Formats: sequence, C-alpha cells, structure tokens
Amino acid sequence: MTLLRRSLRLRRTALDRLHRARQHREQATLRSAKGGQAQAWATQSAQTADVLALLQRGDDPALVTGLWRDYQRGLRDVLLPVPPLDFLRDDLLQETMLVRGRRLRTAELALVRERLPAAALARALDEDLVGDPALACAHPPTSHTAIHHLHHLLRFEAVTGRRVADARVVVEWGGGFGGFARTLRRLTADTPPAHVIVDLPIVGALQWTYLTSIFGAEHVDLALEAGHLPRPGVFTIVPPGLAQTLDVDADLFVSLWAMSESTRTGQDAIVRARWFGAPALLTAFQHRGAGVPDSARVGRLIEDAGGHLYPIALPGGSSYGFR
Ligand SMILES: C[S@@+](CC[C@H](N)C(=O)[O-])C[C@H]1O[C@@H](n2cnc3c(N)ncnc32)[C@H](O)[C@@H]1O
Repeated sequence: MTLLRRSLRLRRTALDRLHRARQHREQATLRSAKGGQAQAWATQSAQTADVLALLQRGDDPALVTGLWRDYQRGLRDVLLPVPPLDFLRDDLLQETMLVRGRRLRTAELALVRERLPAAALARALDEDLVGDPALACAHPPTSHTAIHHLHHLLRFEAVTGRRVADARVVVEWGGGFGGFARTLRRLTADTPPAHVIVDLPIVGALQWTYLTSIFGAEHVDLALEAGHLPRPGVFTIVPPGLAQTLDVDADLFVSLWAMSESTRTGQDAIVRARWFGAPALLTAFQHRGAGVPDSARVGRLIEDAGGHLYPIALPGGSSYGFR
C-alpha cells in the first residue's frame, strides 16, 4: 500500500471516530431503536459465504478493473468467513464505499432540506444499525452516506424533472454495500420498485446480508440463472456475468462511480443492453483514477445516449450524467 493511501485511510478512520464521539447520544439511540437488526445480522451473516459461492458461478473477470481485482481480495479478508456487524468501521470499506467532508455534507444537507419537508426527510434518511455507521448529523440523526445517496436522488429529480417514485423497475450497476438501494427504498416506501443490483460476487454477498437484515429475506432475491425476472418491491442481486440475460425493462438506470470503475467491456455491455431499457439515467463517474483507465469514457457514452453532464463541485474530478 502506498504511503498516500495509508495516510488517507488513517485520516478516514480518525474522522469516523470523531463523528461517533460527537453524536454519541444519537448512536446510543440508534442501537436501542434498531437492536433487532443485530439478531437478524447474526442469522443472515452466517449464510454470506454460501451466498457468495452461488453468486460466484455468474462471475465475469473480463468486466473487472485492476482496481477492483485488488479491492475484491481485501474485501474477502474483511467479510469472510462471516462479515462483522460493524463492517462500516473497516478502513477498506470506508475507502471503497463511503464519503466524508464537512463542506460536502453541508452543501448536500442544504439541498435535501430544501427539497423535502422535515417528516419525509427523516423517513428517507432513516439509518440502520447494521454496518454500525457513524452518524454525522443530529437533525435528523443520520450518516453522511445516507445524506449523500439521498442527495443524488433529489439532485437528479431537480435537474431532470423526473420523479424517482415513478420508476417501477430500477437497475443499479455497482451498489456498494447496499446503502443507496436502502435509501431509494425509504424514499419510495409507498410504491417500492423492483430494484436490480448488478455487482461483483463478494460485494453482492454483502448487499444480500445487509438488505435481508434490514428488510427481511423475503425482500431480496438472487439471480442465478439466465432470464431471471425481477419481482415488484423486491431487491434482486445479480452477478455481472448474468446481467445481459436479465428479463428486464427498466425505468431508471443508476450507476454511481461504478460504471467508471468497470472495464471497457463492461461499459460496452451496458450500452449494448440499451441501459437495460431505461429512459432515465442517474450516473456519476470520476474523470480519471489509478486502476480505472476507462473512467472518462463514461461521459461520452452518456452523451451519445442523449444524456447531459454536470460537473460535481465537491469532491472535484467527477461529473453526474443524467437523462
Ligand atoms: C466506488 S464503489 C461505489 C458504490 C456505490 N455506487 C456508491 O456510490 O456508494 C464502486 C462499486 O462498483 C462495483 N463494481 C466494480 N466493478 C464492477 C463490475 N465490473 N460490475 C459491477 N459492479 C462493479 C463495486 O463492487 C462497488 O459496488
């Protein structure tokens, strides 16, 4: 590991501890309010390795960048044989799947507060015990990750004039630990879509564990065969090698810093699949990065598909691509 990466990881974990110390009362309230999730996690996490073995049958290494070849190895060390309940305290999970920064949080909170009334905002930002996230805000008590994910959704609505709640089928390419899917579900609680997540097997196994612990095993399917049909109101986790075979006609395609972290082969497969049939695109991508040589290409693919790019001021070096 380079010196720079090591010092960034140390900084990240120090900030994580600071947030926990500042919001210690809210952290304690979350632990008691959502204590049942710890029991659910104990049951579900005992099955993570079996779920991984199933998802691995649909793996496709041709879609995986050098960056994610390395990350996958590190994540296996953290998450196997049984993923810890407090996986979001881990520095590798924080590096790959979380954001931090006071200026960013202030700007994102301002937008989400402007777009949603207080009660709806509290519902959409509801946090969970699983992962043991650091809370970064007291009103409402929530993490920066939940604010960040809600911000993407509301910014997309503000720019495009579309409503996320109108989407009956969502396909998400690269869903992290499942936090965006969780927040989208809370935002659309009255009419939850079929939400398909295409991701690497080790990350898909974490998503399965996370989402089943929060919403129940009956709300999460695995797509293990060609032609899998997503069910309304249910999450479906798909390994990359089976994505092309999905029987899906999406309303909304989402990929946040994930299409740009896939290979050119993976990006082209999404375009060939006509963005899984989705008229609406909610994407974000970095312009460059070590181990992701084809990241900048995503902007061109979105523009070719009739989308528009919007530079992201904070943190710099990324853009949204919306259609
Ligand atoms: C930087 S993380 C972003 C996670 C999440 N979208 C977010 O913004 O919080 C990149 C995501 O892309 C996924 N990913 C990497 N290569 C992929 C591939 N070839 N196919 C699908 N997902 C991939 C990773 O597993 C991870 O979930």
